[in-house]
Amino acid sequence: MSFAVKSNITWVGKQDWELREFHGAEYSTHKGSSYNSYLVREEKVALIDTVWSPYAQEFIDNLEKEIDLHKIDYIIANHAEIDHSGALPALLARIPDTPIYCTENGVKSLKGHFHKDWNFKVVKTGDTLDLGNGKQFVFVEAPMLHWPDSMMTYLAGDAVLFSNDAFGQHYASEQMFNDLVDQEELRAECLKYYANILTPFSARVAAKIHEVLSFKLPLEMICTAHGVIWRDNPAQIVEQYLAWADDYQENQITLIYDTMWNGTRQMAEAITKGIRSADPSVEVKMFNLAISDKNDVLTQVFKSKGILVGSPTVNNGMLPHVAALLEEMRGLRFRGKHAASFGSHGWAGGAVDRIAQRLEEAGFKVSGGIEAVWKPTDGALDECLAFGRRVAQQ
Ligand code: FEO
Repeated sequence: MSFAVKSNITWVGKQDWELREFHGAEYSTHKGSSYNSYLVREEKVALIDTVWSPYAQEFIDNLEKEIDLHKIDYIIANHAEIDHSGALPALLARIPDTPIYCTENGVKSLKGHFHKDWNFKVVKTGDTLDLGNGKQFVFVEAPMLHWPDSMMTYLAGDAVLFSNDAFGQHYASEQMFNDLVDQEELRAECLKYYANILTPFSARVAAKIHEVLSFKLPLEMICTAHGVIWRDNPAQIVEQYLAWADDYQENQITLIYDTMWNGTRQMAEAITKGIRSADPSVEVKMFNLAISDKNDVLTQVFKSKGILVGSPTVNNGMLPHVAALLEEMRGLRFRGKHAASFGSHGWAGGAVDRIAQRLEEAGFKVSGGIEAVWKPTDGALDECLAFGRRVAQQ
């Protein structure tokens, strides 16, 4: 499959309809994904990024239907992660001397992955590459968005930004333009992508966007490396990123728990009731981690102004689903959010304090916790209700 993005730009990537987990099991992809690669044809011909390695041969076969591989003058590697560079070995086996334009860290990463000494051309922000017909690429380094090697490539003359991971989504759809897909689905996948991948780099996201905006370049289209191409008002996703990068939160509180014999679940339900009774305007969401998708839960954490995390005590600590989520939240470095812990225990406690400690380590403003013993009594559940009211008032 290939299609025209513009008269001089052809999408030559891969729609991965069957992908359900990305980065191993780090990121769930309920809607699949795509690995977007673009062929830019002016007097010179450039290929921007490739696809994930399992689809390398399919990619080459499709690319050959579009162009004689020997007519490709330049390869642009905006990012070395193998979902974009995975077809380079197969491609370079066919056209071994073709120059690859990437950052200095890109060279390190590509050599690290593939152990090849290809014809690398290191570029920095502001470097250009002439394509003829009055068109040229302008390179923009984007370190830690989201890898040290990441960069973007701007096609001057067409005002198209090839942004790689930035502004993308893991979203396979029949229509690959932002104005042709379900808008709610698109927003949800963009938000999930930002929350689960870019949150730790929010300060850099904002700084890089302001830097690029200061160039005052026209922008007609953003061609991402995953999901849709932003051709209808591409500035909307840039503005959305700025909002998400600014300690984003909605009027939402999220309860996250695991439970052994339903004591902690009953506490969660009572706390929820208390929050709702004190502030009906607040959206409350509740997840049993053992049966929830962790990336969907983390997306809700990103949206929340506060979270409550609960677990019964087992072996003086918490249940493993809760521990794993707290570790992931530590890495994501959410900012400006409140948190509290809760949980029931039988013979001895421990989980509530341990969760509070881990929440603090993850950067949350922790304000107390609540414990119950065995199956919570009506009195204990009343205390949970009151705790929920206090949480809402805070
Ligand atoms: Fe889509 Fe960081 O790779």
